[in-house]
Amino acid sequence: MINAKITGVGGYIPEKVYDNAYMESIVDTSDEWILRRTGIKERHISADNEYTTDMAIIAGKRAIENAGLTPEEIDLILLATVTPDYFTPACSCIVQSNLGAVNAAAFDYNAACSGFVTGLTIAKQFIQTGTYKHVLVICADTLSKATDYKDRATCVLFGDAAGAAVVSASEEQGIISTDIGADGASGLAITSLAYRNDEEETEKRISHKKDTLWMAGQAVMKFAVKAMADASERVVEQAGLTWDDISLVIPHQANYRIVDSAIKRMGISNDKVFLNLEKYGNTSASCIPVALSQALEQGRIKKGDKIVLVGFGGGLTWGAALLEW
Ligand code: UT7
Repeated sequence: MINAKITGVGGYIPEKVYDNAYMESIVDTSDEWILRRTGIKERHISADNEYTTDMAIIAGKRAIENAGLTPEEIDLILLATVTPDYFTPACSCIVQSNLGAVNAAAFDYNAACSGFVTGLTIAKQFIQTGTYKHVLVICADTLSKATDYKDRATCVLFGDAAGAAVVSASEEQGIISTDIGADGASGLAITSLAYRNDEEETEKRISHKKDTLWMAGQAVMKFAVKAMADASERVVEQAGLTWDDISLVIPHQANYRIVDSAIKRMGISNDKVFLNLEKYGNTSASCIPVALSQALEQGRIKKGDKIVLVGFGGGLTWGAALLEW
């Protein structure tokens, strides 16, 4: 069996920062509330003329360079986003053209914040069947463009970013096990409307603007803790390992309280968890690849380490992956 391994990573964070003091100036909130309930101190926001594909191109280019490849060697580009530039063309096609990845097939998919692990799972299938050698998985979102900055319950949470990884055919172990799933029955807990004329949904929004994101925070939080803990347990078990074998967990960076409750359920210690949410907030699917890039830069991952990536999000969806580095 051919192994699928991450051979390169890259991230991009836009320059502009909204710190908690700025959030206090636009909605009825406080630094104290945001820190206590979420752990977030600041979030990075794309420029007005900076879109999902602009960030995706930079992250994708960095991942290809980090893998020591040329764009022509990429066979497939998968792009996870819930904030595309256009419904068509797909963001992945725009990225393909800009990168000069002329030999790559390209498609977008929507698994919201579970997008990175879902992308690794798709890439693994194409590689293990021998169809492709190098798959570029990109996660990019400009959530700020879908955020209602009058809604204090959501606007303090989100930021913008892009993260990418090249998954390649390898003789070494790489993505050992994955677990993705959905609870569609709870899907209306996070909504962002497209063409559907849904007055009830539109009315839920403080600004009654159809194109903003709405969320039932408490319901999502309950789902997230259980979904992350259970999916992580399953990938560890599938791999025939125990938590003692795992050196690092990189969770979706949504909220410190969610992560803390999930890791308590898993029974692992805080020092095995990588967090950067205080600086970036929830950047959707790019949270995990950006955190992975930073964990590597900071020397938190060594060759041979076993790590767990785990996320949850809109859909509702979840995904976990166990990797040997
Ligand atoms: O990527 C996946 C996306 N989603 C998530 O990860 C979100 C999951 N949910 C959460 O992280 C949490 O539910 C939140 C951080 C969104 C909210 O925390 P919470 O502990 O669930 O608070 P709550 O919604 O129960 O609200 C408690 C109070 C309410 O006031 P009352 O009704 O008790 O008077 C809210 O109106 O806090 C109020 N509140 C705020 N107060 C100050 C809500 N947002 C804010 C705010 N500042 N920004």
